Amino acid sequence: MFAVYAAEPNPESPLDALRVGERPDPETPDGWVAVSVRAASLNMHDLWTLRGVGIKAEQFPMILGCDGAGVLPDGAEVVVHGVIGDTSFGDETFDPKRNLLTEKHQGSFADTVIVPARNVLPKPASLSFAEAACMGTAWLTAYRMLFSRSGLRPGQTMLVQGASGGVSTALIALGKAAGMRVWVTGRSEEKRAIASSLGADETFPSGARLPERVDAVFETVGKATWGHSMRSVRPGGTIVVSGSTSGPDANADLQRLFFMQIRVVGSMMGNRDELADLLAFCSLQGIRPTIGAELPMTDAKDGFEQMLAGETAGKIVFTR
Ligand SMILES: NC(=O)c1ccc[n+]([C@@H]2O[C@H](COP(=O)([O-])OP(=O)(O)OC[C@H]3O[C@@H](n4cnc5c(N)ncnc54)[C@H](OP(=O)(O)O)[C@@H]3O)[C@@H](O)[C@H]2O)c1
Repeated sequence: MFAVYAAEPNPESPLDALRVGERPDPETPDGWVAVSVRAASLNMHDLWTLRGVGIKAEQFPMILGCDGAGVLPDGAEVVVHGVIGDTSFGDETFDPKRNLLTEKHQGSFADTVIVPARNVLPKPASLSFAEAACMGTAWLTAYRMLFSRSGLRPGQTMLVQGASGGVSTALIALGKAAGMRVWVTGRSEEKRAIASSLGADETFPSGARLPERVDAVFETVGKATWGHSMRSVRPGGTIVVSGSTSGPDANADLQRLFFMQIRVVGSMMGNRDELADLLAFCSLQGIRPTIGAELPMTDAKDGFEQMLAGETAGKIVFTR
């Protein structure tokens, strides 16, 4: 079948490991389903996979794509949940052996992706396949950060580090719909304008001093923004972290952490129930993800180049 895959790990030049070509047709084990993929979205995770981060060398070649939307053999239209884990931990994201599509099992940038039967949910009629494809990774991550991990209440102030990315645009749209005061940093005027168009109450250049400290900061950038996040949160406030695109910051500023009683909370994707609730929330509120680029899967390399260059304007989606 057609597939977009990583041939081998390449930490220095990840796009050199990217292949657009053919991979063997998958077999569907008992209890799993085959989804005929209509759309899947690009996530930073796919670039990490090309670099060999978070995946064992023996797992290559690996089809990329952690999320998606498509059709089951019986014609049902579905959204893929890319976290494969044991629910006996109460939340499959807490299973120490849980994995995401592309870490152990082949991903969704292909004609067909196979997943456990519980990992598909009905696609809401309000979302196109391309829009629904954004829900399983970036939007699910944003939903869990905001509603399960931050402890924020409507009316409080949140700061999103980064304006134009997949997780950032989802945080802005969800935060606004939930009644938060949404502040956003962005690296350029163009990127800050994207945040404003999504409903951000105020935007700031990266690292700018804020008018006042916020109740919670949402971090996916890492080293480039960490110091600003620590300075921007109020005493007793929360920083929710789900990524470190620019690398980790070895200076964790522990003195400020205890002195200001800051809570730092990790967040990882989301569980199936959270994805179901996210889909319902988007349907009820009429929220649709911002798609900056929609490309046929055959042109996947263009999308990867855009993400690597930081040229995002919402989600990058590949269609089949
Ligand atoms: N833990 C999880 O479950 C999970 C799930 C999804 C993603 N993630 C992680 O979250 C991160 C973002 O993923 P994504 O798919 O949303 O990526 P993306 O679409 O490429 O977005 C990247 C974002 O990072 C910001 N950024 C990048 N470098 C920056 C720098 N040097 N200074 C300031 N801002 C910078 C960009 O801000 P501008 O708009 O200002 O350019 C943009 O908003 C990745 O590290 C990814 O691995 C984690």
